[in-house]
Amino acid sequence: MIYLFSHRWIFWIISFLILAKKIQSKFEFTNLKCDALDKQFCGFEYCYLKSINRTYKYMSVKVNLYKLPVNKFSIKFQGLKRSNGYVPITSEITLDGCKLMSNETFNPFGTYLQGFLMSHTNINHSCPFNHHIIVEKLPVDIVNYKMTKIMPFPKGNYLLNTTWIAYGIQRANVEIYGTLS
Ligand SMILES: *[C@@H]1O[C@H](CO)[C@@H](O)[C@H](O)[C@H]1NC(C)=O
Ligand SMILES: *[C@@H]1O[C@H](CO)[C@@H](O)[C@H](O)[C@H]1NC(C)=O
Ligand SMILES: *[C@@H]1O[C@H](CO)[C@@H](O)[C@H](O)[C@H]1NC(C)=O
Ligand SMILES: *[C@@H]1O[C@H](CO)[C@@H](O)[C@H](O)[C@H]1NC(C)=O
Repeated sequence: MIYLFSHRWIFWIISFLILAKKIQSKFEFTNLKCDALDKQFCGFEYCYLKSINRTYKYMSVKVNLYKLPVNKFSIKFQGLKRSNGYVPITSEITLDGCKLMSNETFNPFGTYLQGFLMSHTNINHSCPFNHHIIVEKLPVDIVNYKMTKIMPFPKGNYLLNTTWIAYGIQRANVEIYGTLS
């Protein structure tokens, strides 16, 4: 089923985001890069990671959409690891964004995580979207979540490459960089 398939991938992505202490290594976000591929369609007003102190770092992004409303979009994910340039370590997976935003998909993670993510972004409703998109001060050093299975990744520099697609056309690219040490 498409849903099961999606869940497994969301799990992987969230694990990537909260990889950490249990394997006695430290995962840290190091960079965030946003690129509007179709400037007629969207434009980033800001996109950054900010470190407040050793335990608090957040991510903020604002993207303006120029062709509203958006009622169909998808997100393509790929995990890469650095070794002579970034080399893919996962296949590409594309998820339906409208389905992703529906309760059905988020439920497996429980309302806590859902509430946490939803309270830092205005992409917190189902389609259509008829406004700009904001991710506001989303804390990224979230480790003490109730995740029991942490995937053992080798140390190194990682990249989660996300491509945002609307109506079948690639509109923006967001690269999230991190280091596992
Ligand atoms: C880091 O900054 C946050 C927000 O200002 C604060 O709540 C927290 O106590 C700080 N942590 C440390 C270890 O200074
Ligand atoms: C969505 O986010 C806005 C702004 O942060 C908030 O006011 C609203 O309550 C959120 N809605 C849901 C369903 O989480
Ligand atoms: C999820 O369901 C709750 C309660 O039914 C609702 O308040 C919330 O807006 C829904 N969230 C999304 C993203 O549809
Ligand atoms: C990320 O994905 C985009 C779109 O598929 C691609 O153009 C870009 O080269 C990728 N970035 C890396 C570092 O592979």
